[in-house]
Amino acid sequence: MTDNTVRQITSALPDLESYWMPFTGNRYFKQNPRMISRAEGMHCYTTEGKKLLDAVAGLWCCNAGHCHPKIVEAIKSQAEVLDYSMAFQLGHPKAFELANRLTEIAPDGIDYAFFVNSGSEAVDTALKMALAYHRTRGEGSRTRLIGREKGYHGVGFGGISVGGLSPNRKMFGSMLPGVDHLPHTHNLEHNAFSRGLPQWGAHLADELENIIALHDASNVAAVIIEPIAGSAGVLLPPEGYLKRIREICDKHGVLLIFDEVICGFGRTGDSFGAARFGVTPDLMTTAKGLTSGTVPMGAVLASKHIYDTFMTGPEGAIEFFHGYTYSGHPLAAAAGVATMDVYQGEGLFDRAREMEEHFADALHSLKGEPNVIDVRNFGLIGAVELQGIEGQPTARAMSIFRECFDNGVIIRTTGDTLAFSPPLIISKAEIETVIESVRTALRAQ
Ligand SMILES: Cc1ncc(COP(=O)(O)O)c(C=O)c1O
Repeated sequence: MTDNTVRQITSALPDLESYWMPFTGNRYFKQNPRMISRAEGMHCYTTEGKKLLDAVAGLWCCNAGHCHPKIVEAIKSQAEVLDYSMAFQLGHPKAFELANRLTEIAPDGIDYAFFVNSGSEAVDTALKMALAYHRTRGEGSRTRLIGREKGYHGVGFGGISVGGLSPNRKMFGSMLPGVDHLPHTHNLEHNAFSRGLPQWGAHLADELENIIALHDASNVAAVIIEPIAGSAGVLLPPEGYLKRIREICDKHGVLLIFDEVICGFGRTGDSFGAARFGVTPDLMTTAKGLTSGTVPMGAVLASKHIYDTFMTGPEGAIEFFHGYTYSGHPLAAAAGVATMDVYQGEGLFDRAREMEEHFADALHSLKGEPNVIDVRNFGLIGAVELQGIEGQPTARAMSIFRECFDNGVIIRTTGDTLAFSPPLIISKAEIETVIESVRTALRAQ
């Protein structure tokens, strides 16, 4: 962008100083604002009217495409009749309806939904559920939580403690005590350019046995992992890895939590990663695609045995001292129900599965382009890892991001990896446009 263009855009904008933006280089952004003011289907439009093909569904969330008319209508209608009702001790029908819709598409045995407002809240809620579950059963010594290196579980204190991304942890002190981490499964030496799940690495699950042995199972509450780690740059579970983790948890009475905030709602070509991988956890955290990104909402989906364990005290007494003012908010619940209607009515989970091969072919055609050291794909998630510029981590990926943006395509970067998670409505022609834009940017470096 030239200085002149920046001046033209910024003159039409409010003063940018007061907003402290999340996960953003504030000073750079305010000098070089990229502002989106409208979106529809596969596209976003900047304040100056530039049309952009969205290859990341907002932030892995607008799975039904932007501003889907049925979801928009449901939110409007709900706002007219019920803005809010007390979330504790009172209910409203849409929240119950949405809980039913979610448990219908969840794997068998996952029969309950607890509503929150984000993925981070879902994670902290699930961790608290796991601790309280063991205590309620008389095993209160089970307090240790196990996450995984390179895992991302949001930004609450629970989430960063079990998370495994150093920049998200290092500034925030000692966090939760009693947390361990499994090794991550990313290995280019063995798995570079794998199509779908990598073959090497299931044995890395066995490290869980060692961690549990070190502390004794009687002190371990839960393991939390993403079926596919998204924010760390799309790290795929090696074939057989998740099943092995499930077996070890079962053997030791340790709960398994799948963080499905990215993997849920069609991203893997099925309702949830759990369904696609055939491994059922005890708890699942969800958000993002739950309302197709329209209204903030998350949910913890819980198995019947967990819910039943809590339902033992005197009737009328609160069983779980946890919840948010906006748990099950009417607008979010209405958006969620309409989103489930759209996913099912338009067969979007199947569509994602049908597109998977084409998406994989397109992504893997980038092998051999300058500085491409790996390509990963599964469902409608993809990643292209780049050789970083020596001494300037993230700079190469950022330059590709900017070039693609200037050429009309939004992609995401994490470290020196380019990540792709398009709305599930993406067409083959749009996949070509995304990939060719990346190819052009790679060649232009
Ligand atoms: C796996 C996972 N868990 C949790 C979160 C946090 O969600 P939120 O940003 O809605 O708090 C994210 C966000 O990207 C995520 O990818």
